[in-house]
Amino acid sequence: MLDSNEKSGIRDLAYKLLVNSRPWDAVRSVEELRREAEELPVGLRRFMAEARVKEEPLIAVANLPVSEDLPPTPESWQEAHRNEAGLLEEVVLLLCASLLGDPFGWAGSQGGRLVHDVCPSRGMEESLTNASSRAALNLHTEDVFHSCRGDYVSLLCLRNPDRVGTTISRIAAPDRLRELTALWDDRFRFFPDDAHFADSAEVDLDGRRFEWGPVLFGPKDDPYLRIDPDFTRPEPGDDQAERSLRACEAHLADAAERIVLEPGEALFVDNYRVVHGRETFTPRYDGTDRWLKRTNLIRDIRRAYIHQRSRSRVLS
Ligand SMILES: [Fe+2]
Repeated sequence: MLDSNEKSGIRDLAYKLLVNSRPWDAVRSVEELRREAEELPVGLRRFMAEARVKEEPLIAVANLPVSEDLPPTPESWQEAHRNEAGLLEEVVLLLCASLLGDPFGWAGSQGGRLVHDVCPSRGMEESLTNASSRAALNLHTEDVFHSCRGDYVSLLCLRNPDRVGTTISRIAAPDRLRELTALWDDRFRFFPDDAHFADSAEVDLDGRRFEWGPVLFGPKDDPYLRIDPDFTRPEPGDDQAERSLRACEAHLADAAERIVLEPGEALFVDNYRVVHGRETFTPRYDGTDRWLKRTNLIRDIRRAYIHQRSRSRVLS
């Protein structure tokens, strides 16, 4: 929890960056932003450095600045982008997030923007994207399909009057999965989720490019995790892999917790150790719906550069 001096210092720093960087373009400003992050309160920097080294599964920061004259919750990311809604909060999130890793984007997701607006959109209520509302988002690894997926998913809450819960879970008892050796093998296909398609109805799962890989990997006693029930499939007929996958999902469901983000709270979710989701809610589209800013972080941006074969942090 930041104190009021730290909060106002972060607000001043974000304003200064915005004033000096008009028109605002996060991709253009992200390297300067990393330098300026050294001006963040020392307590916050030490806290984030320690959490990064220890690979804390969840990192929460409270009392970050949110504008007193916050505009109404936009009805789509396009509206937010057009109106530059929540720019101060975007810069605040990028400043804090850059202490953990490098922000990056996907060319096919929210127009390649580094910071996404998470708000309900008309017509998307039942979709499997962060514009949904009436459909729950199942516990998942972000961008499960890609070897350049983020190490962290960063969320900053601007507004959440209905206390819609963010769900999280992790492998609580690795011993209980010890028998499921298939989870450690390259027997799973990871498909791109619907957020990567402008019109997902036109591209069914089998028509999407996928990566093979294991669900569990890394340290045996505290494994890393790669799973998204909606977009992970074993090879047809591989019953052992299928059963193992379902058992892993059940394990994660049993260990699920609910976090209600309040305005000014940021949550950094380790995407290798924690799966996340969101409860259902009924949108009003009256400017008061839940609104988050989100950015994905990679611990070594060179993974992205190697994939892109260029120094671009917007992945295609
Ligand atoms: Fe997600």
